[in-house]
Amino acid sequence: MKLQSLRRAVFGMSAAALLTVGAAAPGHAAAEAADPILKDLAAAQGIYYGTAVTASKLTGTYAAVTAGQFDSITPGNEMKWGSVEPVRGDFRWSGADAVVDFAEANGQKVRGHTLVWHSQLPSWVENGSWTAGSLRTVMTDHIATEAGRYKGRIDHWDVVNEAFNEDGTRRQSVFQRTIGDGYIADAFRAARAADPAAKLYLNDYNVEGINAKSNGMYDLVRQLKAQGVPIDGVGLQAHLIVGQVPSTLQANIQRFADLGVDVAITELDIRMPVPATEQRLRQQKADYKAVTQACVAVSRCAGVTVWGFTDSDSWIPDFFPGEGAATPYDENYRPKPAYYGIAEALGWSGDTGPGPGPGPGPGPVSGCAVTYA
Ligand code: XIL
Repeated sequence: MKLQSLRRAVFGMSAAALLTVGAAAPGHAAAEAADPILKDLAAAQGIYYGTAVTASKLTGTYAAVTAGQFDSITPGNEMKWGSVEPVRGDFRWSGADAVVDFAEANGQKVRGHTLVWHSQLPSWVENGSWTAGSLRTVMTDHIATEAGRYKGRIDHWDVVNEAFNEDGTRRQSVFQRTIGDGYIADAFRAARAADPAAKLYLNDYNVEGINAKSNGMYDLVRQLKAQGVPIDGVGLQAHLIVGQVPSTLQANIQRFADLGVDVAITELDIRMPVPATEQRLRQQKADYKAVTQACVAVSRCAGVTVWGFTDSDSWIPDFFPGEGAATPYDENYRPKPAYYGIAEALGWSGDTGPGPGPGPGPGPVSGCAVTYA
């Protein structure tokens, strides 16, 4: 069982990835014998399947699953302004570089996340005394520096993140307050100039269904397109609650596509009260399946990214006390029902085994010798 599953995990990896992962992968295969490879299923449907990653964890089993199952990765924090330039003029690229290097070693795409955001913003930006002109220059210089550093190596950039309030009006970030409505167009133009090959995205949460907030986003995208602003896509974060996938998700993806932009599900996780119950894990499987199906169903939906593939690398327990179990793998890298729900949405019809969880397998093992036969 485990030997085969290791073979599968390893099979999905390049020689470079094996070098990266080294000897840590054997013995920690994360899926059962007949388990599918999500990136291969996704490719057959014309989409990518990605995950957010933590650069410092990219070794061992974590790296093996990242490389073996996913064909796109997003740095969970390493490309944010506060990570790359916490102090003005003091640049720290090691985390971001590590993610991009890992992706290239494993033939994966990178979603750059994110250039302009009100959160995880260094205080020198947040609390500086700016004029509209000086902050615009700081913002566009930041975009030129970061997007320029990775020019040609980023598939999608989340150029502007979380620009809207729940009622569809503009969030009063320092950029909105100081520069005004035009900061978004300025940011997209700067990003296009810095990396003409990257697809440029506007990303937000609670915009998965048709609602006041997504209406605000829709109106803005329509205006930007009419003005010739270089926007290529809309990111729906999809930090969802179990049992609450919006019924209008697919219609919402379609209406953005009809405006002439791509759409991506960029930060999918589906949280629940912990400890998880069998019933909620089953519902979560249906929810992951529904979200993935909605992307598959719309030709301009580029792909899906989960915000961490394992419950051991999820932001949910820290930000939503009492909730968790939000990702497709448990804390020990065992696939949960959600993983099989994703695979089913991508056309797989294999056996998920009995019960709610990963089937009868023994889970992670250690120290076994493996020979490929
Ligand atoms: C989260 C990270 O996962 C955490 O590690 C960090 O402490 C806070 O930010 N929307 C976004 C992401 O666009 O950047 C956020 O990521 C989750 C919400």
